[in-house]
Amino acid sequence: MDTGQFDDSELTRYAEKRHLPKPDGLAEGADFVAENDDGHKLLFCFYDKEKEDFFKRLSNRALEEDKSKFRTIWFLVFLTHEEIAKCRQVDKADSWPRGFFLCMEEITEKALEFHGDTFGHPGTVCLGNKGDHRFRGKIKHFKAEVMRNDPVSEKDDCEHFKIRFKAPELKYMVPGQFVMLDTLPVEKRLLLEEAPLSATGKPFEYGNTFDLKPVSFLKRPFSIHRAFYRYFDSGYLRNMSLPPTLATISHTHFPDEFEIFYKVLKNGVGTNELKAVKKGDRIQMLGPLGQFQDLSKWRGNGIEEVHLVGGGVGMAPLVFFGQALKFYSFKLKAFIGIDRMETLLYSAPFAPTFAEDKENAYVYIETLSGIGLRPEDIRVSCESLNNTEWKYGRLPDVNYHEGLVTEQYASYLEGLGKMSKILVVTCGPQPMLSALWRITSKFDVPMKVLLEKRMACGIGVCLSCVCRIRKNGVRRYSRVCTEGPLFDAKEIDWE
Ligand SMILES: Cc1cc2nc3c(=O)[nH]c(=O)nc-3n(C[C@H](O)[C@H](O)[C@H](O)COP(=O)(O)OP(=O)(O)OC[C@H]3O[C@@H](n4cnc5c(N)ncnc54)[C@H](O)[C@@H]3O)c2cc1C
Ligand code: FES
Repeated sequence: MDTGQFDDSELTRYAEKRHLPKPDGLAEGADFVAENDDGHKLLFCFYDKEKEDFFKRLSNRALEEDKSKFRTIWFLVFLTHEEIAKCRQVDKADSWPRGFFLCMEEITEKALEFHGDTFGHPGTVCLGNKGDHRFRGKIKHFKAEVMRNDPVSEKDDCEHFKIRFKAPELKYMVPGQFVMLDTLPVEKRLLLEEAPLSATGKPFEYGNTFDLKPVSFLKRPFSIHRAFYRYFDSGYLRNMSLPPTLATISHTHFPDEFEIFYKVLKNGVGTNELKAVKKGDRIQMLGPLGQFQDLSKWRGNGIEEVHLVGGGVGMAPLVFFGQALKFYSFKLKAFIGIDRMETLLYSAPFAPTFAEDKENAYVYIETLSGIGLRPEDIRVSCESLNNTEWKYGRLPDVNYHEGLVTEQYASYLEGLGKMSKILVVTCGPQPMLSALWRITSKFDVPMKVLLEKRMACGIGVCLSCVCRIRKNGVRRYSRVCTEGPLFDAKEIDWE
């Protein structure tokens, strides 16, 4: 945003208009409102502990007036990252509903990056002691409360479920990380530990009947499908796009609820247990696991557009990527590969509230629309797409393809003139990943792969998850749980 758009010291006027006490003692020009021709406003304030109450009322008022339009975006500027971290706590969020946070250290860093000549040479100024400002979460073992656990449709054989749970412990979770979760609720697990063979939980006695069905012993790995931020309605990303420079250094509140989208495997012990979990149950979790990714840095590497290419349930974690990437204002396109359209059809009662046509809503299409993707940016490939199913889609007809998602993506790339600032992020079955690697290599488009391996521990101890990688010309084994699961496609030993 160019500085000519700033109208200095407007905060006082803003407060006056809204009958709020004037913020006294603020340095001239320390607070301002930036406004563009459409009337969208960015409101900046410097955090001051003494004025917490004033800011609280101001931000509440901004929220009340703005509703879900996101015409005024509220930024609170902090001196250090430690300060920011304290105020981003979920339990402190009431003070700054729906505000975004900026940190002086990061702003300085950006200013040096873009205007090094004016502000000094990069590297000559001390930018704090971290170098990397985004916080990495410590791995926690905790109990998460289940908010809901529903199939996506009412059909008896529905195999796709969404489980939503409260877990402020995962507030630092970023896309590309995962959790290990116990698929039995805490109470049921305790019962089993006390009476392993008894279906009823009664101790061993002659005459009792036993349940010899296999029971999960280890936790199972799952990625996050979506994160929910208190005060940010679902669909807020549709109405908002931060300026790219600001987006990379902006922070929201920490999310406190999360959703996993999972497929119940036919003979899957854990996923069949998970689908029986009820609202109010508590489940044991370990996370966040896997490598921390700072997606905001991808822009620094010249990436402006990200293509999410997902096969089957592999699309689920890419939605969380989409959510974060949209926040950092990357351009997004999604390519969904599925076997049958009907497996993704929501039954009306389960369709999200923002679905335009609840009778004909499709799982990934609705969710991707909810995080701000336009219909023209969503493409679907389906192995058997008959004409009856076509009419339900709310995407342009040309965005449907009968066949494999890799075919659709290859022809999309062929039709593209320029592809220098694109990155592909993908997840799905192995043959799809290998085919996509051949396509992206041919077009010289960088690709990141989210690998899924069977995992027993999730923390690098059991070696059940190894894959072969090739780094600096040397082939070796890598543990997907600790070095991944997100890998540079170049590093994977595809042979
Ligand atoms: C990092 C990571 C993230 C994941 N995220 C998701 C997600 O978001 N949604 C989702 O639905 N699933 C996800 N999975 C896969 C999920 O972990 C498995 O589907 C689940 O563990 C199966 O458990 P189960 O007890 O039902 O199956 P099991 O009873 O353990 O196995 C049943 C059958 O499925 C096969 N199987 C089990 N797990 C895998 C696997 N990972 N790869 C290939 N074959 C397997 C087994 O070989 C066996 O034949 C993820 C896996 C990883 C490693
Ligand atoms: S799951 Fe145990 S080492 Fe990766």
